[in-house]
Amino acid sequence: MSQKLNAKNHIYRHEVYLPAEEMILAEFVRPPMKVLDIGCAATGRSARLLREFGCDVHSIEINEAAIAEFARRDDSHDIFLTTADMSQLPYADDSFDIVLIAFHGMDYMHSTEIRQRAFREFSRVLRPSGRLIFNAFNRLGLVLTPQGLFSPAYLKVRLKHILSGSFLKATFTDVNNLELRQAIPQSIIREVKETAGLDLVYATNQSGSSRNLLLLSLMASAPYYVFG
Ligand SMILES: C[S@@+](CC[C@H](N)C(=O)[O-])C[C@H]1O[C@@H](n2cnc3c(N)ncnc32)[C@H](O)[C@@H]1O
Repeated sequence: MSQKLNAKNHIYRHEVYLPAEEMILAEFVRPPMKVLDIGCAATGRSARLLREFGCDVHSIEINEAAIAEFARRDDSHDIFLTTADMSQLPYADDSFDIVLIAFHGMDYMHSTEIRQRAFREFSRVLRPSGRLIFNAFNRLGLVLTPQGLFSPAYLKVRLKHILSGSFLKATFTDVNNLELRQAIPQSIIREVKETAGLDLVYATNQSGSSRNLLLLSLMASAPYYVFG
């Protein structure tokens, strides 16, 4: 049995942007907003996108090897990089206009206690008009999504997810052998309200084609949420 991966022993190197991310940033980000990018990984994909939008970008990452790789790759040195855990943020209250946890970084937070501590931290460091933006795997959407319907590789992953009964559990193992949380949108929205005191202001699927919460709940594999 191969070793299960987690944030500390897996270096994430995704490069492709989702249409939803560009749409959300275009709608909610105005330069020179001060933005906290959580989990920048080795590519700094989301940090670099925020920089393109003219933001003052501060990135944290729990994996020291990943953040060191990004520091080596990024020779512009205009993104502030800090090794830190999202459930214990090294920033003062009311520091940021946006907190972004891009590309399902929230799903690394399996423990309810630690995840809720992170939500309270986001609320603490956000300014009163600030926005919390993240996406997260949707337990039901992962089964029913039409995404990749004609891709044999994606169908294989979906079939495994269904046959193994993974969709019934609170976590599942992704293609990289990472254990990730999955939750229905309604429970995510409730948890953010109860812990961070923030309301949902916008939700979309990854392609940006739907903003209907009922449809997203049924069919979006990993909706993006904006809270404020
Ligand atoms: C899926 S990657 C997203 C990377 C990047 N933000 C992007 O958009 O491509 C999530 C990152 O979050 C980091 N991470 C996981 N748990 C964390 C925590 N508690 N605090 C800070 N970073 C964490 C992981 O190491 C990983 O690099």
